[in-house]
Amino acid sequence: MRYTARPSAHFAHPLPNIAPDVAMRNLLKAGIRRFVTPDSRHPIGDKHATVIAVSVQKGGVGKTTTTVNLASALARHHDKRVLLIDLDPQGHVTTALSAQVRPGGGALSRVLTDEQTTDEVMDVVTATDIPNLSVTPFDANLGSAEDLMGTRIGKEFLLRDALRVTRTHYDFIVIDCPPNLGNLTLNGLCAADQVLIPCDPSPLAVKGVDAVVQTITRIASRLNPDIDVLGILMTRVDGRNRKLNDTVTDKIRETYGDVMLPVSIGIDTQLAKAQVDGQDIFTFAPTSRAAKQYRELADLIVAS
Ligand SMILES: Nc1ncnc2c1ncn2[C@@H]1O[C@H](COP(=O)(O)OP(=O)(O)O)[C@@H](O)[C@H]1O
Ligand SMILES: [Mg+2]
Repeated sequence: MRYTARPSAHFAHPLPNIAPDVAMRNLLKAGIRRFVTPDSRHPIGDKHATVIAVSVQKGGVGKTTTTVNLASALARHHDKRVLLIDLDPQGHVTTALSAQVRPGGGALSRVLTDEQTTDEVMDVVTATDIPNLSVTPFDANLGSAEDLMGTRIGKEFLLRDALRVTRTHYDFIVIDCPPNLGNLTLNGLCAADQVLIPCDPSPLAVKGVDAVVQTITRIASRLNPDIDVLGILMTRVDGRNRKLNDTVTDKIRETYGDVMLPVSIGIDTQLAKAQVDGQDIFTFAPTSRAAKQYRELADLIVAS
């Protein structure tokens, strides 16, 4: 039945010549818009962050080490405002920076799973002693969030949506993804502009690269057409084990030659020691080879 009742003074629409049913539709639209546009709690900033997901389907290749030290290099050496998102339930970002992460922040899992919340990622971050660098702190519920996320409509885009305003306050957002292809990683990739793929010189690492490239290709065609591969970063390169390095590197170059980055990260025990001390490499060993190489990586990304 056609809606003919006169709109009450309270609901009177500002354009009196619009038919009442159209007015009703507009009111409904305005109501829905309230849910999809940011509220005044989140003032829009003047930046538009590049979102970099660090991802590969293998653990122990240097994802967290790369995420932490790249984010730090961008903040320290390029004066960029950087947000480091820990999407891995293991919470290794907080461990790696335990001496530098300040208390505070909240649960990223709540932002990703609570249907009622209007909180953004920026509501759960905390500062670090590194100027310009914020992080999402360790969240014990992130693991169980993975299943809950799977039940939500638009499950691949929960993180992207929760970054809508947040990304206007940062120059770079760097995401440490878990070593699998679950909902958390999918959310990281769907929020990303670029994917950085660390690869250590081991035969298994090549499989991990193949898996993430396949996933990126599918995501590009179905979910996030803007996603791009920033590059494959060779990590833990052991100068003394030339043969293995060359075999793996040649295999990757054969398939992915054009996306191999010109910078690589050598084996450097200072990186592991820095993590034990809970510091980024630029604080722990600023003159180390690893510090120089991670700085080169940041230089390359800023220049591109
Ligand atoms: N270039 C490197 N040289 C030496 N040790 C490294 C290097 N990169 C990472 N590590 C160490 O290897 C281990 C795994 O690295 P991590 O970054 O945690 O990998 P992932 O996040 O992929 O699981 C850590 O103990 C880290 O300190
Ligand atoms: Mg890790």
